[in-house]
Amino acid sequence: MPRALLHNNQLWRFAFIRSREKLERIYNALSPGNNWARSSSLIIAVYSKREYDCIIRDREYYLFDTGIAVGFMILRAAEPGLVAHIIAGYNSEMIKKELNLLEDVNLIVLIIMGRHSERLIEKLPPPQREREERRPPRKSFNEIAKIIK
Ligand SMILES: Cc1cc2nc3c(=O)[nH]c(=O)nc-3n(C[C@H](O)[C@H](O)[C@H](O)COP(=O)(O)O)c2cc1C
Repeated sequence: MPRALLHNNQLWRFAFIRSREKLERIYNALSPGNNWARSSSLIIAVYSKREYDCIIRDREYYLFDTGIAVGFMILRAAEPGLVAHIIAGYNSEMIKKELNLLEDVNLIVLIIMGRHSERLIEKLPPPQREREERRPPRKSFNEIAKIIK
């Protein structure tokens, strides 16, 4: 494979899972804590490979660049009122097999797509429900920023 460039590698890959039959098989690969995702009608599997993007000594950019692409996808989904919830709780091997992905790709996240539903929140086990109902606290600016003088 030719060496990736420093720009425009477009290394993110998405598999859109829409058929009921396939969705059911993906649901079976989710961690128990993600049972809530069983009511989604679209799941997007996000994958890539370190060699698809530039690597500068110990800096491997493929996760960073894929994250940017996913971030924008989440924002775009919010515009018409959809919820795009990323999860990492799943059996990667099972899903890669289901989607016929090469063994050496990294299945980075699944994006669970759907509409916000109060009924769904009611079905969550209590600790998960509490987490969902409260907006998690944000770190203060000083905790995440270092001002260089
Ligand atoms: C790497 C990663 C993995 C996650 N995995 C899960 C998961 O398996 N199940 C889940 O319900 N939420 C998971 N989340 C959390 C949701 O995506 C979370 O709602 C989202 O990051 C928004 O977080 P915020 O409410 O703190 O802004 C994960 C988040 C990250 C960053």
